[in-house]
Amino acid sequence: MYLFPKYSAKTISENTVYLVNENDKLTGYKLSKDQIAFLKEGLKDDNFVMVNNFGNVNIFCKIEDLKKDGNKEKVRHLGFKTFEATKALCSSIHITGETTLAQELFIEGFALSSYEFSKYFTKPKKQKLTAVSFDDKKVNASKIETIVDATLWARELVNEPVNYLTAEQLAVEIEKKAKGTAVKTEVLGQTKIESLKMGGLLAVNKGSVDPATFTILEYKSKKAKNKKPIVLVGKGVVYDTGGLSLKPTKGSMDSMKCDMAGAAAMAATVIAAAKLDLPLHIIGLIPATDNRPGGNAYTPGDVIKMFDGTTIEVLNTDAEGRMILADALSYAKKYKPELVIDAATLTGAASVAIGPHATVAMGNAPQKEFDLLSKAGFATHDRIFQFPFWDEYKDEMKSTIADMKNVGGAFAGMITAGKFLEHFTDYPYIHLDIAGPSFNSAKDSYRGLGGTGCGVRLLVEYLSSK
Ligand code: BES
Ligand code: ZN
Ligand code: ZN
Repeated sequence: MYLFPKYSAKTISENTVYLVNENDKLTGYKLSKDQIAFLKEGLKDDNFVMVNNFGNVNIFCKIEDLKKDGNKEKVRHLGFKTFEATKALCSSIHITGETTLAQELFIEGFALSSYEFSKYFTKPKKQKLTAVSFDDKKVNASKIETIVDATLWARELVNEPVNYLTAEQLAVEIEKKAKGTAVKTEVLGQTKIESLKMGGLLAVNKGSVDPATFTILEYKSKKAKNKKPIVLVGKGVVYDTGGLSLKPTKGSMDSMKCDMAGAAAMAATVIAAAKLDLPLHIIGLIPATDNRPGGNAYTPGDVIKMFDGTTIEVLNTDAEGRMILADALSYAKKYKPELVIDAATLTGAASVAIGPHATVAMGNAPQKEFDLLSKAGFATHDRIFQFPFWDEYKDEMKSTIADMKNVGGAFAGMITAGKFLEHFTDYPYIHLDIAGPSFNSAKDSYRGLGGTGCGVRLLVEYLSSK
């Protein structure tokens, strides 16, 4: 989607969206009394009226009090509605009216709606609507563009199936995206991972025919306000069959190409932070492999020695995310980080608990970090909800033959998983389980069909607010 400023006079002679406020400034737009009455009536129930004005599309959207986060989200959704209503009608559309914030929110929702994963059609559908212009000089188009681009890139990676996006290909995609930015990347390959004895990552990779990778991103602003880095860790399971504990439920494997959504979100966030020139020092760590059954696959009953020396009794090979994340979290210690956040499609339990509407958050970082993150979540509508992180949940991870086992009991699976991960940390830690919001099976909003890019707008906003 091409966003461009166009400081034209308000006319009704082109495809235009009018953002009008509650008290109605409709009179500013050279409309007849009858037209105003028609619009007021239409805007009453739906905030959205579309009229064909001698071949031009004119859309009126009612903007409510933007001090409320919920109303901000309504404007993004109006951007989605407008995109859906006009995508086959016009090639460009102009936005005018109301505040800078209203225009920015609208453009964000509109641009995020424009994404489709069309690469694999032999005859890709040509999108007609490809440009949006606006007349508010204060609209920060390059910031919106950077954040939208990062979100759509994360979606694209999630949507890529494993027959293209292997662990090595994921590393290549990250290197390509970081090229030309201030982000440095380093990819550790199978041999290096073996010499480092990353036992968790290697165990999950044993059933695979493709090598594992461990990608490190670093963005260090010269103006960095944090002396110790913030480390972002993303689960990069490029496909999760469950391994020998093959996924048991019908259909549950269909969307498992999404199991690297945490990796996509974290890599996209580091790169966006660099493009936005945020005054921070940020490291990204992406452990990646697929999880498959195979002649040599890791097996229930196996005891694995992890990167930090901890021994783990594997009782379910489908609990693989924690195995690879544990090694990345131990690796993160060497940076003496100020804070570590991970994002992972880690448990079905998180999705059952909260559905697609928020990320499950937990951890031992100071409460003020959760409050900041929660605020960023409401501001972007990429929301988090904080769950308890009490030590009682850790008791369930005790093994009778090793330091820990990789599964807990029947309840609160997202928290027992989080407590398992905490074992590998020695710094303030936040765990984000994005299993619920990371993948959409219907295009019902600007969040898109398939990968949603969840976590990117949340974390960019959070980091910007620091
Ligand atoms: N990748 C899955 C979790 C998942 C489920 C993500 C649904 C997105 C949607 C994860 O690796 C997994 O299989 N977790 C198991 C853990 C269990 C075996 C302890 C789960 O949640 O069932
Ligand atoms: Zn799994
Ligand atoms: Zn998984």
